Amino acid sequence: MARILITSAIPYINGIKHLGNLVGSQLPADLYARYNRARGNEVMFLCATDEHGTPAELAAAKAGKPVAEYCAEMHGVQAEIAKGFRLSFDHFGRSSSAANHKLTQHFAGQLAEAGLIREVSEKQVYSHADGRFLPDRYIEGTCPNCGYDKARGDQCENCTKQLDPTDLIEPRSAISGSTDLEVRETKHLYLRQSDMRDKLNDWIDSQNDWPILTTSIAKKWLNDGDGLQDRGITRDLDWGIPVKKGSDDWPGMEGKVFYVWFDAPIEYIACAAEWAEANGKTDADWERWWRTDKGADDVRYVQFMGKDNVPFHTLSFPATIMGSGEDWKLVDYIKSFNYLNYDGGQFSTSQGRGVFMDQALEILPADYWRWWLLSHAPESGDSEFTWENFQQSVNKDLADVLGNFASRVTKFCRSKFGEVVPEGGEYGEQELALIKELQEKLAFYQAHMEAMEVRKSASYLRAIWVAGNEYLQSAAPWSAYKEDPDRAAAIIRLSLNLIRFYAVLSGPFIPDAAAKMLEAMGTDNADWPEDVAEALSLLPAGHEFTVPDVLFAKIQDEEREGWQQKFAGQRT
Ligand code: 2FM
Ligand code: ZN
Repeated sequence: MARILITSAIPYINGIKHLGNLVGSQLPADLYARYNRARGNEVMFLCATDEHGTPAELAAAKAGKPVAEYCAEMHGVQAEIAKGFRLSFDHFGRSSSAANHKLTQHFAGQLAEAGLIREVSEKQVYSHADGRFLPDRYIEGTCPNCGYDKARGDQCENCTKQLDPTDLIEPRSAISGSTDLEVRETKHLYLRQSDMRDKLNDWIDSQNDWPILTTSIAKKWLNDGDGLQDRGITRDLDWGIPVKKGSDDWPGMEGKVFYVWFDAPIEYIACAAEWAEANGKTDADWERWWRTDKGADDVRYVQFMGKDNVPFHTLSFPATIMGSGEDWKLVDYIKSFNYLNYDGGQFSTSQGRGVFMDQALEILPADYWRWWLLSHAPESGDSEFTWENFQQSVNKDLADVLGNFASRVTKFCRSKFGEVVPEGGEYGEQELALIKELQEKLAFYQAHMEAMEVRKSASYLRAIWVAGNEYLQSAAPWSAYKEDPDRAAAIIRLSLNLIRFYAVLSGPFIPDAAAKMLEAMGTDNADWPEDVAEALSLLPAGHEFTVPDVLFAKIQDEEREGWQQKFAGQRT
């Protein structure tokens, strides 16, 4: 039994995420977690809300709430939506947790001890109109790298370059729009990641199985000359983790907090500690996932994220881990995604463009979205959501192929043999050919799932569904029944077993439908099939089942048009 640690990029606390965010991290991470559990591996799947920094402060101010209260409330909202999408986190933590405060301060202390932190007196932008320093996202301006005119003070959304606020050309306050800005002196801590350049380079070079998207972004920032600059890890903000060296005060750093991007990835670790606390476990229970000196040396650690998050996960966070000099687990595999676009443009949280997670669940159950999003995951390049394509995939793959198969087989059986697996006849040539085909396709499906090739996995799963449909069509039990009821019984016996087989294989993609299929088949045997012939003989003659309700309803043209209009504008 393998042990797999999985983390999804932790979503910002402010607001509800759109479907592009979902497919870029949490959803494929869930697919992989569910698959590994189904294969009998021990899985720890962690996610959390990313609660610090300027976006949280800005959103709380807009909502007219104290920031701590706002974050607690939004954590509840996001947790509920995650449940709605059936994201099977072992724990959904909070980067503002006590565990993360402690660990973040601990890492800073370790890094300081290792000589990897320097204090810098730096110039920061002060806004007269707003009466405060303007770090990160409080400042907007033109990107010095690509010329994008809405670049933020921490990163350019357009070219992914990590920025410092003072890098921006023609800066303005994101709060008031004021350009009455002044540069003032303030002291901050910097992580000397440039000292670790060679070590990071060697480490990335040794990862020869990583997706090209991941390594190319990492290498770009590593080798771009200015790619691996030392990074400021503190900010002049109220909301955040107070700057301390372990549990000791840090002279000169009073009133400052750690930069959100310093504490956010540390929450991956702290989240495991939160999990332990929430479930009455000990420190040893979570440390066996994270400390290589305490049992984590056989853990495989996989991270999922959108491409904009790659630089922090390939450079900054590993620099923190390596620099600590302690035996923390480093990531083994980073699966990154391109962007999902929305109907001819970009999904945009700031502009309220696209479909957001709560809205999606209001119009259709999770499985419909999960299937479309995963089968169109933006892996080799950006991909696009259109309502036509969504309607087509749902109607064809889910309703016509999978749903229809389950419905035809169970209804036919009920009308001719009753609600039991029928007796009589034997599997013949057609069945053996199908079994052979399924065995081959299953091997491909597994290989792609293990390699986290999401679209390819979906297409093999679809092919497995199609194979059953084609078999049913050509074996035609409704015709066979007239001449040879035993032959029809054998076809239906195999087909009922196929429904269970489909339930097990489809679970990672469409967990609700999978559960319904298993329930209808009157079994809780969800064992992953090794030998297809064996798996298709599992439900014996005489085993009772029920006809399931419609698994997937087709999307009608009027519905599609209605949604198209409803989601054409901006969310307010
Ligand atoms: O892009 C985002 O949504 C960030 N909140 C991701 C942080 S991932 C990590 F570092 F924890
Ligand atoms: Zn740029």
